[in-house]
Amino acid sequence: MLNKKVEDILNKQISGEASSSHLYLAMASWAENAGFGGTAAFLYTHSDEERQHMLKLVKFVNERGGKAIIPDLSVGTISFKNLKDVFKTLLDHEIEVTNSINEVVHVCLNEKDYTTHNFMQWYVAEQLEEEALARSILDKLNLIDNDKGGLYLFDRDLENFKADTVANDQAN
Ligand code: FEO
Repeated sequence: MLNKKVEDILNKQISGEASSSHLYLAMASWAENAGFGGTAAFLYTHSDEERQHMLKLVKFVNERGGKAIIPDLSVGTISFKNLKDVFKTLLDHEIEVTNSINEVVHVCLNEKDYTTHNFMQWYVAEQLEEEALARSILDKLNLIDNDKGGLYLFDRDLENFKADTVANDQAN
């Protein structure tokens, strides 16, 4: 049976992953309308991944005898100035997610729930990768700045990046 404090903080994390999925969906739609098809494809996939992160937690909470709470979501109107603004928002958001995952891990240790602690290690590793990826994308955009040719190539690269990720996932 899940300890109440652990259950509550896992439900908070479910809500966090759901809002990540929603935010990245809004970003994907913005990119699509702005003519960045490759970036949109990348962000639609990223939004799906966040939904999987949420589902994994929902199933874990329910399997351990807790009750997963499916959150209400409202993001209002989201708009971005440019691609740099999109990926800066994404990186800031991932840093917040990392902090909230660290909080979950902290509660697990305090409550001596080593099963959930073990389960959360996947999220800890995933956050390392996601933050590194967001930083490297932002570094590229800072280099490109407003160069139209550079932005065109960047967008094409992100499309290929998405294709590579899908191919790697299918191979594993
Ligand atoms: Fe599921 Fe990007 O954190």
